[in-house]
Amino acid sequence: MSQLHDRGISGLEWPAFVDLSIQEKAALLMAEGREFHVLLAQQFNRNRLEVLGNLATAIRRIAKSEAGMKFLGSMLAHRRAMLYFTQPSTRTFLSFCAACQILGIQIGEVRDTATSSECKGETQEDSVRTFSSYFDVIIMRSKIGGLAERMAWVLSQSERPVPIINAGSGKDQHPTQALLDIYTLQRSFEKRDGIDSKKIMFVGDLARGRTVRSLSYLLTNYSNVKLYFVAPEPLQIGEDVLAMLKEAGTECEVRYDFDALIPEVDAIYMTRIQDEWDSEQGASTKIDTSKYKFAVRHLDIMKPDAVIMHPLPRRDEISTDVDHDPRAVYWRQMRNGMWVRAALISSIFRRDSEILRYHEEHFSLS
Ligand code: NCD
Repeated sequence: MSQLHDRGISGLEWPAFVDLSIQEKAALLMAEGREFHVLLAQQFNRNRLEVLGNLATAIRRIAKSEAGMKFLGSMLAHRRAMLYFTQPSTRTFLSFCAACQILGIQIGEVRDTATSSECKGETQEDSVRTFSSYFDVIIMRSKIGGLAERMAWVLSQSERPVPIINAGSGKDQHPTQALLDIYTLQRSFEKRDGIDSKKIMFVGDLARGRTVRSLSYLLTNYSNVKLYFVAPEPLQIGEDVLAMLKEAGTECEVRYDFDALIPEVDAIYMTRIQDEWDSEQGASTKIDTSKYKFAVRHLDIMKPDAVIMHPLPRRDEISTDVDHDPRAVYWRQMRNGMWVRAALISSIFRRDSEILRYHEEHFSLS
């Protein structure tokens, strides 16, 4: 890792780092003008989102041919990634695997602490230091909010300060999901002047859905966007997100009239009820969510060029009969995750210029 460093956080004691505001942390994490650790959605400004989106598109195009795949596979064949996923995951885990494989990175995994020495009482700090001895990047998901931050700091004090990528922490942050959501919006509105001035409605469990929180932060980078938060009262968006949007000057409204809003908006971002966070088993089933589901009849009242998104997994909040409609982009959104994550990893390891050069040479006419 000789040429890669997290110069930003290594000079701080833990209490000083953890007490910084999110903006201060984000600034520190981007001290080099690009990410080393990926911990918070707030790290990414509009320029960075565009750069990563363009890189994802270059990788997506290059990957279409055998020669292109060979080129991509040679980019990071000397690197290894650890996937430390102690919270359930299908898409995020597999898309990170696939992204690593595209770039030639070999992977190791721990998906259950019952099979690691954490069940013998080893701390997460020691686990992560162990991973950093064998691997060049640690991609981690945990139900503990802030754990990725803590681990990034722990490694910054060690002799192997490898990058940490937060693949979902607690109820709070899911920065790489937000990146793929932004990329999906960028692509969906490519011919409609991009994300600026679009109306985006979030629906479902907004109180506990980390994807909504992280994407809301990223949307403050765009001008004139308007966000609508639509959920049953107990699952409404947190005051902290509303305060953050207000501070950023991003217009938003808390609403309860899902059907009435559908014809107004450009993107409908559905989410599932996150009942794994219920304080008492079954508590969420007492909440009436019936008015907040997307049914086939809603397709008729949607704008013809609006999109329906979902971070997935879904339950019954979107009828499967909606899947065939071209405005249902959630499967494409999921595949975008693989390209964006490959872009992010190639950028962390500074292979971005080489990839863009290859793209320029082979696709300059397209
Ligand atoms: C989300 C998550 O884990 O926060 N899933 C994902 O990463 N695509 C959303 C969810 O679990 O509902």
